[in-house]
Amino acid sequence: MSQSQETLSNLLQETRSFPPPAELAAAANVTAEAYDEAAADRLGYWAKQADRLTWSKRWDEILDWSNPPFGKWFVGGELNAAYNCVDRHVEAGLGAKIAYHWEGEPGDTRTLTYADLQREVNKAANALLELGVRKGDRVAIYLPMIPELPISMLACARIGATHSVVFGGFSSEALRTRIDDAQAKLVITADGGYRRGKPSALKPTVDEAVAQTPTIEHVLVVRRTGEEVAENERDVWWQDLVERQSDQHTAEPMDAEHPLYILYTSGTTGKPKGILHTTGGYLTHVAYTHSAVFDLKPETDVYWCSADIGWVTGHSYIVYGPLANGATSVMYEGTPDTPNKGRWWDIIRKYKVSIFYTAPTAIRTFMKWGDDIPAQYDLSSLRVLGSVGEPINPEAYVWYRENIGAGRTPVVDTWWQTETGGIMISPLPGVTSAKPGAAMRPLPGVSAEVVDDQGEPVPNGGGGFLVLTEPWPGMLRTIWGDDERYIKTYWSRFEGKYFAGDGAKKDEDGDIWLLGRVDDVMLVSGHNISTTEVESALVSHPKVAEAAVVGATDPVTGQAIVSFVIPRGSAGEEVEGAEFLAELRDHVARTLGPIAKPRQIMMVPELPKTRSGKIMRRLLRDVAENRSIGDVSTLADSTVMDLISEKLPSAK
Ligand code: WT7
Repeated sequence: MSQSQETLSNLLQETRSFPPPAELAAAANVTAEAYDEAAADRLGYWAKQADRLTWSKRWDEILDWSNPPFGKWFVGGELNAAYNCVDRHVEAGLGAKIAYHWEGEPGDTRTLTYADLQREVNKAANALLELGVRKGDRVAIYLPMIPELPISMLACARIGATHSVVFGGFSSEALRTRIDDAQAKLVITADGGYRRGKPSALKPTVDEAVAQTPTIEHVLVVRRTGEEVAENERDVWWQDLVERQSDQHTAEPMDAEHPLYILYTSGTTGKPKGILHTTGGYLTHVAYTHSAVFDLKPETDVYWCSADIGWVTGHSYIVYGPLANGATSVMYEGTPDTPNKGRWWDIIRKYKVSIFYTAPTAIRTFMKWGDDIPAQYDLSSLRVLGSVGEPINPEAYVWYRENIGAGRTPVVDTWWQTETGGIMISPLPGVTSAKPGAAMRPLPGVSAEVVDDQGEPVPNGGGGFLVLTEPWPGMLRTIWGDDERYIKTYWSRFEGKYFAGDGAKKDEDGDIWLLGRVDDVMLVSGHNISTTEVESALVSHPKVAEAAVVGATDPVTGQAIVSFVIPRGSAGEEVEGAEFLAELRDHVARTLGPIAKPRQIMMVPELPKTRSGKIMRRLLRDVAENRSIGDVSTLADSTVMDLISEKLPSAK
């Protein structure tokens, strides 16, 4: 192994594993045979998954890969995504079934059955048509987590308009660049939404953005908070326009490759990439994985994914996957600590949620708030828990399983990306003995590998880069308007393989552990050390709630490991002392090996995160290297760096 391939990965001694509960395994949607079946006939296996959907015209060819990396799935097939998510369930007699239990932050609620959803989507589709939106046009959606968000997405899908949802926390500049890139004709927004107990305005941000966007013809505004907003000539109120429409509309079948949506991912450099997803393959992928990975039983389960629909997790696993499967879901508008830190657990109790899907950053926040909070709620309805967004530290995994899942529920750690459309690597809750911190194996139908610098698969026990070796139905089709960048970003690093940008290792059993973005790997005295592994080692100490690790330039070792640590709520005063810091450094050395011992550990009250919960290591590197702190405009909470500076006088 070359030096750059050498990783410390194998030193992470995580030996726990949790077999599936017998009862769940006995009735699981997907069993171990699926792996063999898919290996024997991968395309046939996907065609079988596509049969979960209702097609107006059957496809002629499962996959056309004659012009890689531009793939076409279910070529010649026709279907309508909104019809598949809504109408067909009503036609099957399930109109009275609840699609969404919606919970507003202030405590107001709305229940939408599939029949309600059908009427609302039809009205919205008719309204879009009245505004001149046609098949192939782009519509930007900038809404809080209210029912009009999925309704707008489905209305677009129904008439063949391509939606581009922009997360409601983004600035007017971010909204403007996304509108311009997609050349959107219409923006759907609201006066505002509720966050942390207060109305939070959205409309002014849109006004600012559309003042400079030549393509926008109308702004469709939902009244949510009732706060006063400026009214411009091209504004139309949802409550006026949509409410007076007919609730009848016939969905038009779309080509399987018709563009369903664009979703922008920021990445660390360059302008945001408009990730393009199309109709038939995407819907097949999300319907299949939502059923397989969560073992969804649509008749009895109540499913809740706590993500924001502004991210791909919400697109695939709040809107398209669950609705295609006819699930009953919970949708929540606000923050987890309003009116108190038990709000999420109260929602699980209230709606008897049985499947819950959230992110490691949220789990670590709850660990920090203390075990006693979830302990006050009846969470016994839960039967499957999921995690997504970044590697989950083994400690956070076990805390989640124990404190939320009462030690009974499987936890599925699901690896995927905006670009993959749906889950790719994950345990199956009825099959896999899951290891805390490991995404385990590619799902049946998915082909992934861990390769070295040369693109050669690493042996078990080795580390390298995660690649996807075969096309999959939910794959991005291109970067909107930039085929070259699509090829360059994903398909050029390794010939014929999709480069995910994540570091990974295979353990002795061949199971896959994700190690974070490759840009987050440190080079310390010639050793590649992943920030994730050091963070996991720190978090495995009982007095640590959260940790972030960066590599700082060091005259001796090239890079040195600098850690930022948030102590657990219950840890008390002693965490301030030099003795405790020495104890933590030793703890990392014992867990990972002496080479991984942080040069420096700083106790901080908060960590800088983006709005999607990813740690902004760039800012911490500024602190670690004693520089002035760079651009903080994409921080979820811009005061965090001030808090850190107050605590660490050197961080100015
Ligand atoms: C990146 C994709 C997938 C929806 C949310 C994020 C990281 C995601 C995991 C996981 C380790 C993970 C990867 C990936 N990631 N899930 N289970 N274990 N890492 O979507 O914003 O497109 O980010 O998130 O680094 O490349 P995204």
